[in-house]
Amino acid sequence: MTDKSTLTLGDMNVELPVRKGTIGPDVIDIGALYKHTGAFTYDPGFTSTASCESKITYIDGDEGVLMHRGYPIEQLAEKGDFLETCYLLLYGELPTAAQKKDFDTRVLRHNMVHEQMTKFFNGFRRDAHPMAVMVGTVGAMAAFYHDSTDIADPHQRMVASIRLIAKMPTIAAMTYKYHVGQPFVYPKNDLDYAANFLRMCFAVPCEEYVVNPVLARAMDRIFILHADHEQNASTSTVRLAGSSGANPFACIAAGIACLWGPAHGGANEACLNMLEEIGTVDRIPEYLAKAKDKNDPFRLMGFGHRVYKNYDPRAKIMQKTMYEVLEATGHSDDPLMQVALELEKHALSDPYFIEKKLYPNVDFYSGITLRALGFPTTMFTVLFALARTVGWISQWKEMIEDPAQRIGRPRQLYTGAAKRDYVDIAKR
Ligand code: SDX
Repeated sequence: MTDKSTLTLGDMNVELPVRKGTIGPDVIDIGALYKHTGAFTYDPGFTSTASCESKITYIDGDEGVLMHRGYPIEQLAEKGDFLETCYLLLYGELPTAAQKKDFDTRVLRHNMVHEQMTKFFNGFRRDAHPMAVMVGTVGAMAAFYHDSTDIADPHQRMVASIRLIAKMPTIAAMTYKYHVGQPFVYPKNDLDYAANFLRMCFAVPCEEYVVNPVLARAMDRIFILHADHEQNASTSTVRLAGSSGANPFACIAAGIACLWGPAHGGANEACLNMLEEIGTVDRIPEYLAKAKDKNDPFRLMGFGHRVYKNYDPRAKIMQKTMYEVLEATGHSDDPLMQVALELEKHALSDPYFIEKKLYPNVDFYSGITLRALGFPTTMFTVLFALARTVGWISQWKEMIEDPAQRIGRPRQLYTGAAKRDYVDIAKR
């Protein structure tokens, strides 16, 4: 459905179509703007720019709403499991019991990696940051699975999607084991997705490892909370990389690289480091002052969001999961939890944070929870990447299957030097 908008530029009046979505803001289609006016739009952080049309995820930042294919995150996290959310993101509908069984089996049947990949890890230092290993190893999947890199073939697109969802836990666990100097643990197909991952991370050859079902459920729910999130920085990176026709493994590696930044997925690691630096409740005012000081680059990690100007709905569910995990692992007295709860209370009543609409985001409580599960801080963003792979690949697939799809190629506002002639070095 389209309306019209008129843009006046000098003595030109240009009519631009306005398109309406199912819900959410309308968009002004500026595709023909440059042709008609010779001018570009300018929006460096994409604060007012829709980069694509999508049916996958909807966020209402003012209402604190997150839905996948129309289903609220609260219901998916409470009632379903991660592989059900994967099916929903990929296929657009919740699976029937038969479809779910088939999908779970297909994913389980692809969870091993090519044995040659185990040699690949040996090229890294043991103390390399796990995200550096993930970028390299996932990108290298294209060297092992070139029979699912023809993006024009729908069957190969789905095989690559299933392979990535299935193998990310195995690669993430191998990254962790390599980091801590322990032998790799193979997946076991009588365990579900999250339980398999916890066992691959924490089992050792010397004794049986029994997965705690409370922790496996918490891990699965954490994956659901991180599965997809509209056109965030890393998803936009995956879409842009995919628009050139790059293979899906290379695109997901690009997404992992972007997610690593502390302003994005790296915030969970940065947030826990910040809580440890604050250390005790009495130092909170000092850090709130730093966060508000324009001359201090310090930011309250785990707070604020480009879209959410209300509570991030994932943060509420993550806080509940934090309590469950701390209880199940005997860390209910974790001093960092006290610091986090007190910090949230102070920040939510502070005029600066209220005025700038800064609320805890998904990363604020995830660090405390992941540490209680036994992961080192350096693994936090790896877990985010593991979960977000299904979102990235679903958005990638949607982009490839969009008939209007073209290579993404933004323009610029040029403010550099006008034309000037070369000067010989002897005359400079
Ligand atoms: C994720 O996009 C997604 O959907 C991402 C994500 C996903 O699932 O994919 O949700 C995951 O990345 C969550 C965000 C994790 N990042 C952090 O927790 C890092 C800390 N947060 C900030 O760096 C910041 O809030 C961002 C990056 C999240 C958002 O930045 P914006 O939208 O560009 O906002 P901004 O930097 O322009 O800030 C607006 C104002 C500024 O003050 P003024 O210049 O207007 O005076 O708010 C201030 C900022 O200084 N501000 C903060 C702050 N975040 C913003 N001040 C203190 N502490 C903060 N955390």
